[in-house]
Amino acid sequence: MSIKILVLSGSNRTDSLNQKLAETLKNILSDKEFDAKCLRLSDYKLPLFNADLPLPVEAETLANEIWQCDGLVIASPEYNGSLAPLLKNALDWASRVKIDDEKPYAFYEKSCYLTACSPGALGGFRGLKHLRDVLTSVGGLVLNNQLAVGNGFEAFDDAGNLVDERIKKMAVAGLDDLVVSIKRVQAVTR
Ligand SMILES: Cc1cc2nc3c(=O)[nH]c(=O)nc-3n(C[C@H](O)[C@H](O)[C@H](O)COP(=O)(O)O)c2cc1C
Repeated sequence: MSIKILVLSGSNRTDSLNQKLAETLKNILSDKEFDAKCLRLSDYKLPLFNADLPLPVEAETLANEIWQCDGLVIASPEYNGSLAPLLKNALDWASRVKIDDEKPYAFYEKSCYLTACSPGALGGFRGLKHLRDVLTSVGGLVLNNQLAVGNGFEAFDDAGNLVDERIKKMAVAGLDDLVVSIKRVQAVTR
């Protein structure tokens, strides 16, 4: 049975480190013949969340992309020890899209692997705790295993690959854990 994995980057910055990380992770999954795709959240024209606004069509499109995947990988920039506003805004909008009564959120029972990259030594590790809390609130199954890539400006070669073999191995191990989690969920829900 094919496994669909969606990889999202939480940055809209040109030359984003997290976009590079997202693409690298997507490529690792594609090389293993999983059905993986990378989406740029900045392609979704979502206003700043306001509960007075009608639900934008783009929020429904994003929520459906999330709902239709078996697992989610997020590359999350760290802003002031937390997640970036683009990502928080997109997650909040997507959380307003009701899937059905039994499974109210697109994220429900979705296995999630959290990753980050930053120029700092900690690699955006602190922000992942906040992201974990957000995703857990909407029914996501967030892996214990997570990846924070430090010294981000030196972390990728010109082709966008991770240069440090140790980090690459950690990324592969995290993605393997994600697939195990997805298969566990599929075993009890299908
Ligand atoms: C408002 C703001 C706050 C930031 N706070 C942190 C931080 O807490 N920790 C950190 O490691 N980097 C921090 N940074 C640096 C970002 O990690 C860096 O800009 C990184 O390149 C962002 O990810 P991106 O390249 O994917 O856009 C901050 C940057 C900005 C603009």
